[in-house]
Amino acid sequence: MRTCHLLLYFFVIFVIRVKSDPDPLQDYCIADTQSSQSFFVNGAPCINPANAIASHFTTSALSKPGNTTTNPLGFNVTLTNIRNLPGMNTLGLTMARVDIAGNGLVPPHTHPRASEVTILIKGSLLVGFVDTSNRLFTQQLREGDSFVFPKGLIHFLYNLDSKASATAISGLTSQNPGAQLASAATFTTKPNIPDEVLKKAFQINGQDVSRIRKNLGG
Ligand SMILES: *[C@@H]1O[C@H](CO)[C@@H](O)[C@H](O)[C@H]1NC(C)=O
Ligand SMILES: *[C@@H]1O[C@H](CO)[C@@H](O)[C@H](O)[C@H]1NC(C)=O
Repeated sequence: MRTCHLLLYFFVIFVIRVKSDPDPLQDYCIADTQSSQSFFVNGAPCINPANAIASHFTTSALSKPGNTTTNPLGFNVTLTNIRNLPGMNTLGLTMARVDIAGNGLVPPHTHPRASEVTILIKGSLLVGFVDTSNRLFTQQLREGDSFVFPKGLIHFLYNLDSKASATAISGLTSQNPGAQLASAATFTTKPNIPDEVLKKAFQINGQDVSRIRKNLGG
């Protein structure tokens, strides 16, 4: 009996922990992006369901490649959101198109609110994530291969080909996954994390801190 209760307890804890965005209480909740919101809700308020039309549920946002030349790391992420796809409001998901130039890199980052599954449409990518015991899991993807990045874990995508660009499509388990780049979250915050903290954390000197900040555009 004891073990049974314990198992139930862990099961409940597990279910609570893997929950994505809250379930909608109606068929859909077309985001009302016009409303001047004077209150805060978890997501966006909905329009009157009677005014819903098919175009609220479709978007061409991911049909065109993002421009990768303006980013020094050579990547561009295009996302669906409540403005280009208002019908996704409260559904607990996001789609992303990731374009990566030759040898481009989506640097180590996390999505605090979402797991991610990515499928490589074009090119070749080295992808990987690090778990909480600092184990690295990497895989070289070929066209058509998929890979999952568990929620909240640091991951990256690197285009191994120096010339050909790569394109991947991702699904994320939140309508607002959030993205935090490891490098930016440490070296280009506003205001700066005190040099003393970074020197000690990374075992580097003040010149190193300044150089890294400058290199990252901070
Ligand atoms: C991503 O691509 C879009 C469309 O070409 C462009 O407007 C945007 O500036 C690019 N973003 C970055 C960060 O380069
Ligand atoms: C990408 O952006 C650069 C810099 O803004 C621009 O020169 C180039 O024409 C753009 N490429 C495309 C395909 O839009």
